[in-house]
Amino acid sequence: MTPQRLIAFTHGIADREGARPARSVAQRRANKSGQSGNDGRVAEERQYRGRTFNAAAELYQQARPEYPEPLYDALVEVAGIRAADRLLEVGCATGKATLSLARRGFRITSVEIGPDLAAVARRNLAAFPNVEVIGGAFETWRPPLGERFDLVFAATAWHWIDPALRYQRAFELLRPGGHLAFWSATHVLPEGGDPFFAEIQEVYEEIGEGLPAGATLPRPSAIPDDRAEIEGSGLFENVVVRHFDWEVSYSAEEYLRLLDTFSGHIAMQAWQRDRLYGEIRRRLAQRPDSRLRRHWGAVLHVGRRHDLTPAS
Ligand SMILES: C[S@@+](CC[C@H](N)C(=O)[O-])C[C@H]1O[C@@H](n2cnc3c(N)ncnc32)[C@H](O)[C@@H]1O
Repeated sequence: MTPQRLIAFTHGIADREGARPARSVAQRRANKSGQSGNDGRVAEERQYRGRTFNAAAELYQQARPEYPEPLYDALVEVAGIRAADRLLEVGCATGKATLSLARRGFRITSVEIGPDLAAVARRNLAAFPNVEVIGGAFETWRPPLGERFDLVFAATAWHWIDPALRYQRAFELLRPGGHLAFWSATHVLPEGGDPFFAEIQEVYEEIGEGLPAGATLPRPSAIPDDRAEIEGSGLFENVVVRHFDWEVSYSAEEYLRLLDTFSGHIAMQAWQRDRLYGEIRRRLAQRPDSRLRRHWGAVLHVGRRHDLTPAS
């Protein structure tokens, strides 16, 4: 696979955040009408898929993986943030990353577009009076009284934000010298990783959700980074990129709960999910421990707001 192809697979909005990218709503519509996709459809697709998570609000906290503590250590170190600094989070869902940073003493405002997710996040974060979850879209949200933040961050959410607006909005919401940070949990396959994912591809093919020809899961260190995009915005500098990877073991039911939180699987038709999930259960039941190993990788990006006059 060319690097370009890999980027499209792991970062594009057709990424189902699971083992397989489903054909997008835009593609399905384009195929029906015989047209190819265009920017308008891609934006429509991003908005549609970005909102599908709300349907999995109660499951999300339990099924999605925790990010590794060393990732938070690196974020704190590189951004130079200290307890009681003001953080703005983009798309907190049920508050997974929020909780980890709230425990470190930061004051956090999270903007979450899914009302049910925001409600679950408020419940999960109730013990932290310095954390506030606001319903709405990051692109249009405005802070009260021109408030500014020390860090704007997004955990597996930056790619859902309008690329034409996201860097400008983050820049405007940061104080001079503040930092933007984002990372995404991605499915990776290290040497010696579980062969389950290659084997189950035939079922994805059968239900019409196969990968584009030649697409493969990346090795952990081969996840492409977004340094060029961040620097290309002209709004951030001193960009630091760090790679992290970790392994999670799943029973069949745990794994299916995870798939139920992926936008592409949520968007599948019932017959597709039934066939796929039935086959996952059947295949794992034949293993001695009835479990699979899934490896996760994340690329942490941290960039400092680029100010003409250095921050004092
Ligand atoms: C894959 S989830 C990641 C959630 C969480 N940060 C985590 O790491 O588990 C992406 C989240 O972004 C939210 N989202 C999508 N588009 C958004 C937007 N324009 N503004 C704010 N939140 C958005 C979704 O509702 C969802 O909760």
